[in-house]
Amino acid sequence: MCGIIGYIGPRNAVPILIEGLKRLEYRGYDSAGIAVVDGQRVQCQKTKGKIAALEEMVKENPMASNVGIAHTRWATHGVPSSINAHPHLDCASKIAVIHNGIIENYAELRETLINRGHTFRTDTDTEVLAHLIEHYFEGDLTRAVRKALKGVVGAYGLAVICSDDPSKVVVARNGSPLVIGIGDGEYIVASDVSAIVDHTRQVIYLKDREISVIERDTFQTMTIDKEPVTPEIEEILWDIDTIEKGGFPHFMLKEIYEQPETVRNTLRGRLDQEEGTVRFGGLLPFKEDLRRVRNIVITACGTSWHAALIGEYMIEEYARIPVEVEYASEFRYRNPIVENGTLVVAISQSGETADTLAAMREAQRHGAKALGIINVVGSTIARECDGGIYIHAGPEIGVASTKAFTSQVTALALFTILLGRMRGMSRDQGTEIIRALTAIPDQVQCILDQGEHIQKIAQCFFRQNNFLYLGRGYNFPVALEGALKLKEISYIHAEGYPAAEMKHGPIALIDENMPVVFVATLDSVREKVMSNIAEVKARKGSVIVIANEGDEKMEKYVDNAIYIPRTLELLTPILSVIPLQLLAYHMAVLRECDVDQPRNLAKSVTVE
Ligand code: AGP
Repeated sequence: MCGIIGYIGPRNAVPILIEGLKRLEYRGYDSAGIAVVDGQRVQCQKTKGKIAALEEMVKENPMASNVGIAHTRWATHGVPSSINAHPHLDCASKIAVIHNGIIENYAELRETLINRGHTFRTDTDTEVLAHLIEHYFEGDLTRAVRKALKGVVGAYGLAVICSDDPSKVVVARNGSPLVIGIGDGEYIVASDVSAIVDHTRQVIYLKDREISVIERDTFQTMTIDKEPVTPEIEEILWDIDTIEKGGFPHFMLKEIYEQPETVRNTLRGRLDQEEGTVRFGGLLPFKEDLRRVRNIVITACGTSWHAALIGEYMIEEYARIPVEVEYASEFRYRNPIVENGTLVVAISQSGETADTLAAMREAQRHGAKALGIINVVGSTIARECDGGIYIHAGPEIGVASTKAFTSQVTALALFTILLGRMRGMSRDQGTEIIRALTAIPDQVQCILDQGEHIQKIAQCFFRQNNFLYLGRGYNFPVALEGALKLKEISYIHAEGYPAAEMKHGPIALIDENMPVVFVATLDSVREKVMSNIAEVKARKGSVIVIANEGDEKMEKYVDNAIYIPRTLELLTPILSVIPLQLLAYHMAVLRECDVDQPRNLAKSVTVE
């Protein structure tokens, strides 16, 4: 998520904006920039890299003004670079815009504006806002912003300044947070209160489709349709550490609860409900290669490898293309046979995992085309693959991957539809999966609302030293992921297995000290899992079950159950993993572990 800050008041805006950006660093970013209204023009400086680099730039090229905006960028469209950093300017460099969110219809807007004679400097979606506001500007910045936003589809939290209407900052919100701090004769706007509380604790949270015009000693809020709004002033009571975690005690819990929004962001702008297919901008140059693909190798590590296993089930079931899933660390060294027509898919949240990068290069060396399913824009894997899908999950700070996993699985479902519709999947089938996908974010929220119930179950089991996680079909990789979550943050030994494997050894472990977590949703193999549950209960094993709402048979039979909404089998992992993320989190907290920074682990394993 990008960081936004703006200032208008009697003080020099520049140091306030720079210090405010530092308060937003925790959000993760790849570049930063600042713009101020200085007399008759907008002065803008921006750079790839850290805020310290921007601070150096500003020291060498001093700026001073009472009105300014600044930004830390988490790239979504356009690689991290100085030119792609915000603020973005109009043709005449009289208007500067900073933005957090995704403009879904930026391509069409860009084409229209170019046809009207506008010159673009960057590859970003945000730049269209600067030119659109320029198009409508006739002396009143507020009116120009309002008219521009009428034609915008997508999520935004934005701030705009203009040298031809210099005594104001115009801000607007739709889907991305924006807060106005009411200081003593000054105003600070920001994407979150961590950049504001150094100056004031009196704030207003802008609501979706609202615009605010902030001037030296007053501000006015309205809807995008010009209806006046009387916003409520609130007092910030949190300390900085709590603010950075959005009020959650840990980044991991914040990121677990972000998943309804992050899954929406993965889907945003990519669904063609009418045609029952999907649109991936990053795959356009790749489409013909996809038609010729004869087999797929998916390579990854850790949680991403679990997502890969789910991708195998999806693609083989719906696109009927053979898929092999490979641990990257094994694939890279075993001189693999890579046949003609092979597509290698590298899944990586960070895009920097050494083994995954090396495995992708090895496959490319054997002639395979490479597709990256990546979270961090402009990362090494993203740059070296032949085509890519960004999952748009935003920065994942907690070492244990949660929201990236559900966005990876969501992206794999979209990719499956794309491949399937090229290979005989009917429009109705595509539409059915798309319809089920659009329901997922709200269904995730239903599970998150059971947080207290899941915490109570964790309280019964957190002292255990061993766990088994069992599932079948699409829920087998979920069992693996649940076990990994538990072991990496609570240090409890946990193993994931296909449920049917119990009788081939693990059942010897079952007694009253070996709790077993079953992922037993109402799918094609659920009856089989029921008999596995019976085997465990017959041996005094305690059982926790992830089941579907309305599964009365389970209610009568199992003591600790967490019920999740029903969806299509291939999408079930996005839902069935959520209780396992929360179970692991709560058990780790009860064991007083360092949830965000577990011992011995790094967020990105960039070495072998
Ligand atoms: C997940 O919780 C772990 N932190 C780890 O397994 C991670 O998934 C793995 O290192 C791969 O990272 P990547 O997705 O950034 O490539």
